[in-house]
Amino acid sequence: MSNPSLLILPGDGIGPEVMAEVRKVIDWYGAKRDLAFDVSEDLVGGAAYDAHGTPLHDDTMAKAQEVDAVLLGAVGGPKYDVLDFSVKPERGLLRLRKEMDLYANLRPAQCFDALADFSSLKKDVVAGLDIMIVRELTSGIYFGEPRGIIEEGNERVGINTQRYTESEIDRVARSAFELAMKRDKKLCSMEKANVMESGVLWREVVTEVGKDYPEVELSHMYADAGAMQLCRWPKQFDVIVTDNLFGDLLSDAAAMLTGSLGMLPSASLGAPMANGRPKALYEPVHGSAPDIAGQGKANPIACILSFAMALRYSFDLGDEATRLEQAVEKVLADGARTADLLGEEGVDPVSTSQMGDAIVAALDASL
Ligand code: NAI
Ligand code: MG
Repeated sequence: MSNPSLLILPGDGIGPEVMAEVRKVIDWYGAKRDLAFDVSEDLVGGAAYDAHGTPLHDDTMAKAQEVDAVLLGAVGGPKYDVLDFSVKPERGLLRLRKEMDLYANLRPAQCFDALADFSSLKKDVVAGLDIMIVRELTSGIYFGEPRGIIEEGNERVGINTQRYTESEIDRVARSAFELAMKRDKKLCSMEKANVMESGVLWREVVTEVGKDYPEVELSHMYADAGAMQLCRWPKQFDVIVTDNLFGDLLSDAAAMLTGSLGMLPSASLGAPMANGRPKALYEPVHGSAPDIAGQGKANPIACILSFAMALRYSFDLGDEATRLEQAVEKVLADGARTADLLGEEGVDPVSTSQMGDAIVAALDASL
């Protein structure tokens, strides 16, 4: 069997800096766990524009469609603000998401005990928190027709349409059930079936899909109640699946339960490929952070945890993903902090590469 393939797109700003630390982790798995990946690297965003005059070359797009998983750093930066909209760095990322048809956006909210003080919630509410929000990404109110601003009588009316087909709900529900099977086998679906027909259909279809996953304990919650429960006692959840709009709000809120932008990974998954693996793009939630780029200050953990997600959700290496997450946990517990994680006074921050080295050392110690 050939090695699993990985396309790395470091991008702009701190993207290449944090990706260099991920490369250390990938190399460690090859050397110490006999898990070799066929890694190729290419350009995206401003870096691709500088080289090719386009934020994503067709060859790179084709490559992304072939590999088992894509790992992206970040795109954008002030240098590219003057560019025409059609070639802005962000267009490269949008093209990847669109052409790979990545309809399930996975946003974990995970709290490492050592950072529980960072949360706006009480420590015991968030310590050890590990939940996953699956947001439908390619349909719903951000895309539904009719839309626009029209004249009606003597005033204007703003219109957006929430619209979901059964197949759109079915496929994102399946992604969520598959994830739940790899986690704690608990799924909560959130909509507003009390006031929205699209929510009624959502609940019906999710319930129907659930019959294919009898091991997963399925529950339903109105999204507003879900927002309250997320703040009150988030640990009651394992996987949450919801639509594009509610997921946008709930995933941002849940992510911030746990602290810094430099800690947050994400994944976007699409349909299963011939080998059974879903199309997949893994990336940190943060951007290219031009304010700290090139200074060795960036926190590489969000990008490293994105690779951990790839291990778990693309490569079925859940144990190795846990090993990597525990290495991160250990390094934080030992007190290593990049500048963005500094709360206490009198602690010297570690650099991007020192953080990466410490995580690799913790991986070594795990053997
Ligand atoms: P940003 O996420 O790049 O930075 C926001 C703040 O968080 C900055 O102060 C930054 O220094 C800090 N920060 C972010 N990641 C960090 C890390 N790993 N370690 C330490 N500190 C970190 O968002 P911003 O400033 O709004 O956007 C900067 C550029 O990034 C823009 O061109 C924007 O379009 C682009 N962007 C790209 C995204 C992507 O590639 N997925 C997502 C968000 C923004
Ligand atoms: Mg958002």
